[in-house]
Amino acid sequence: MHGSTTSQPRAPALTNAFCRTDASSKRSPLNSILRLEGYLTLPFHVLFVGYDGPDDCMSLPALTTVAHQWIATHLTPGQHAVDATAGNGHDTVFLAQQVGAQGRVTAFDVQVPACAATRRRCAQAEVSDRVTVVHAGHETMRDHVEAPIHAAMFNLGYLPRHDHTRITRPDTTVAALNAACELMTGGGLLTVLAYRGHEGGPEEAQHVQDWIDARIDTLRILQSRLYSANPDAPLLWGIQVPAA
Ligand SMILES: C[S@@+](CC[C@H](N)C(=O)[O-])C[C@H]1O[C@@H](n2cnc3c(N)ncnc32)[C@H](O)[C@@H]1O
Repeated sequence: MHGSTTSQPRAPALTNAFCRTDASSKRSPLNSILRLEGYLTLPFHVLFVGYDGPDDCMSLPALTTVAHQWIATHLTPGQHAVDATAGNGHDTVFLAQQVGAQGRVTAFDVQVPACAATRRRCAQAEVSDRVTVVHAGHETMRDHVEAPIHAAMFNLGYLPRHDHTRITRPDTTVAALNAACELMTGGGLLTVLAYRGHEGGPEEAQHVQDWIDARIDTLRILQSRLYSANPDAPLLWGIQVPAA
């Protein structure tokens, strides 16, 4: 774990807040959320959760749920959020419900079927009024989104049941992470969910880790890590951007 700057309040040690995933925390992601709750008000920190074990497929919805719970503690009605990877629109609808009728959500995807699915899901959920679906890569975020944004979700990988070679890529993912951080207000929260079971997934997850590590060195952010024994297990990070 890295220390904070002298000008920032020191965070409590995170070692007790995170423990190796065990059967109980896998079945109950809320355990993790409760442990993390107190840290979401810190000026800048990185949260990290990973799951391992033989039933990783069961952990995917759990990690998505954890990401939603983190965002839900942070994003309030009237705010602006970005879904960096719209996919089938689940996260877009979730964000749209969080920000309410007065808020805004901008969702990106490079695939036409993903944009169509997201628009359809938003219409079904009756949240289309506050959602803009952009058929473009998230690396173009600065061209489509006005600051400030208050949250951003990156759910990396490929569109389920579609072309598994149309995946997010490390260079564009990192470019978009930089853009999202720039566009965020102080205290903005971004989540990154990386899948490592497909070709290119482990490399991308490593790039995200490297990006986080670089920021830790520069900004002296706090980090707590949980390493998974299973190299294919998905990983979730929550990153709170500091106040300017
Ligand atoms: C795992 S899916 C996202 C799931 C989605 N968040 C949901 O709730 O259904 C990943 C998506 O990222 C998209 N993608 C790939 N490269 C992208 C890029 N450069 N910018 C934006 N989206 C991208 C893929 O087309 C795919 O739909």
